[in-house]
Amino acid sequence: MCGIIGILTKNDDVVPQIMNGLKLLEYRGYDSAGLAVLDEDGQLERRRASGKISALAEKISADPVSGKVGIGHTRWATHGPATEMNAHPLATSKVAVVHNGIIENFQEIKQDLLAQGCEFESQTDSEVAAKLMHKYLHEGMSPEEATMAVLGRLEGAFSLAFLFADRPDLLIGARRGSPLAVGWGKELMCLGSDALAVGPLSAKIAYLDDDDWVVLTNEDAIIRTSSGKAVRRASTPVDPNFQVNLGKSGYRHFMLKEMHEQPQVVGDTLSTLLEGKEGRLRLPELPFELEKASRLNIVSCGTSYYASLVGKYWIENLAQMPVDTDLASEFRYRRPVLDPNGISLFISQSGETADTLAALRHCKSRNQRLLSLVNVKDSSLAREADGTLLTMAGPEFGVASTKAFTAQLTMLAALAVTLGAKRGLISEPEQFRLVRLLMEIPAHMAEILTKAPVIEAISKNVIAPARDVLYLGRGQNYPLALEGALKLKELSYIHAEGYAAGEIKHGPIALVDETVPVVVLAPSDSLFPKIMSNLEVVRARGGQVIFMGDNRGYERLTDEPTAKIILSQVDPFVTPLIFALPVQLLAYYAAVFKGTDVDQPRNLAKSVTVE
Ligand code: F6R
Repeated sequence: MCGIIGILTKNDDVVPQIMNGLKLLEYRGYDSAGLAVLDEDGQLERRRASGKISALAEKISADPVSGKVGIGHTRWATHGPATEMNAHPLATSKVAVVHNGIIENFQEIKQDLLAQGCEFESQTDSEVAAKLMHKYLHEGMSPEEATMAVLGRLEGAFSLAFLFADRPDLLIGARRGSPLAVGWGKELMCLGSDALAVGPLSAKIAYLDDDDWVVLTNEDAIIRTSSGKAVRRASTPVDPNFQVNLGKSGYRHFMLKEMHEQPQVVGDTLSTLLEGKEGRLRLPELPFELEKASRLNIVSCGTSYYASLVGKYWIENLAQMPVDTDLASEFRYRRPVLDPNGISLFISQSGETADTLAALRHCKSRNQRLLSLVNVKDSSLAREADGTLLTMAGPEFGVASTKAFTAQLTMLAALAVTLGAKRGLISEPEQFRLVRLLMEIPAHMAEILTKAPVIEAISKNVIAPARDVLYLGRGQNYPLALEGALKLKELSYIHAEGYAAGEIKHGPIALVDETVPVVVLAPSDSLFPKIMSNLEVVRARGGQVIFMGDNRGYERLTDEPTAKIILSQVDPFVTPLIFALPVQLLAYYAAVFKGTDVDQPRNLAKSVTVE
């Protein structure tokens, strides 16, 4: 996690640009922030603050600082609490460093340096990088030689940026495991954790490969491998109109804005796959025939994992292709048996999640063919996979994933239909019918958004006062129950659990009493009678039932539920896309009523780049 940025110019003060870059990187962590620049005398000047970027901005306005070269950091704490002392940059008199990742052998290096009389000011793992660099510079090495020596000592995953005292013409960056992009701008060079931060400053961008390091001067950026050999890495031009909208467009929160963008995002994602008007789908060119795979092995984390669970239902149902789904953090450690004729698919909004990336590399080492489904085009997962399916959600700033999830579902639904058609299981008219159902989703979503006041009232009166909430779903909507519970937990800090409705009688029913709201996702499909029995079991124990379903289902209820959210009646195939919105809205409003930090919930970060 953590976001890093470094900027070098001849003419301007870089502090406003670093602050702007940090704002764009804040989704990566918001425990503390800091920056360092070289003042006119070439001395290192630091400003750091515990808390969000706004706290750092206050510090700087109270005690201004400026310079033409500098580095910045926004932190998600791993080693040591989120104090100012542990905030980056970590520095000595000769060098300042910002770090994203974990230096796994920092204790060993620290002991070594302590034994040599070195003193440490922080509890971070990152400080060893600054102290080691200082030591090598003090011994007479050049910054470039010292960088190679430091990198040779470090183990773990990291991206680093070093700023050197008395060297206004130099920044050095390095990467192993964590991403680092380099940008060439107009009379400016920069580096940073992602294209969001570097893009607005650059005419072209290149990404470092693992174990690369880069020397930025006012003239150019030279990328080198671990042996010191200069290499070229492919660069891509940045659209001159590239801008990141950091505004909330009048919405109270990014999450609310992003939930409202879902009709558009689903339509945009679908339109990249549509060929002609009839409803024929065409996936992007892939270097293998996906439909001929004997098995699909999907690996992901969090909300992306729940999307994969829905994908399993769809793909097995429509394409009769066996699908395994795994949590990336568990995958490598269970010695998975991979089918040589199988394909592995990695789903991730950010394309940078460390566990998912590690799983991809594991599959690569086992000669699997690799497909990524990501929302960030040049992310590590996209670059390291053999082929990519790209969702069109655009940048998502709310830490809780919303529009990226529905975009993933859209892509998976389209993938299932395409595979079914290519495997001869779906006729052309049926393919067109299914695609039409998907094309109608944006309109249904727009209608659900008009029901926000109903959902808001339920959140306020039933969900927000609760201590525990259960979500029940069956079949392809069981993952939506899991997603609903995750959203509620992470946003409102209310304990919630998602269950397959049929499982409730095998244990969780013991939790139910009149204080426990039970959200029942009940589309009127073939499983409706079954879920009704589960609902009765809850009601018999006094549980407060929140019915989520269509009018036809509601009319079949024997008793009035505690509350109801009536949704459009749609074909069973597309119900997961329909249920996604109300479960998001329910959690959102509960969080608003509880007064939590909706866009940046405590302890979280959007891009989880540590294992
Ligand atoms: C929850 C959420 C997380 C992410 C997870 C994976 O709202 O956003 O659970 O889904 O951290 O992130 P990506 O999709 O970027 O790999």
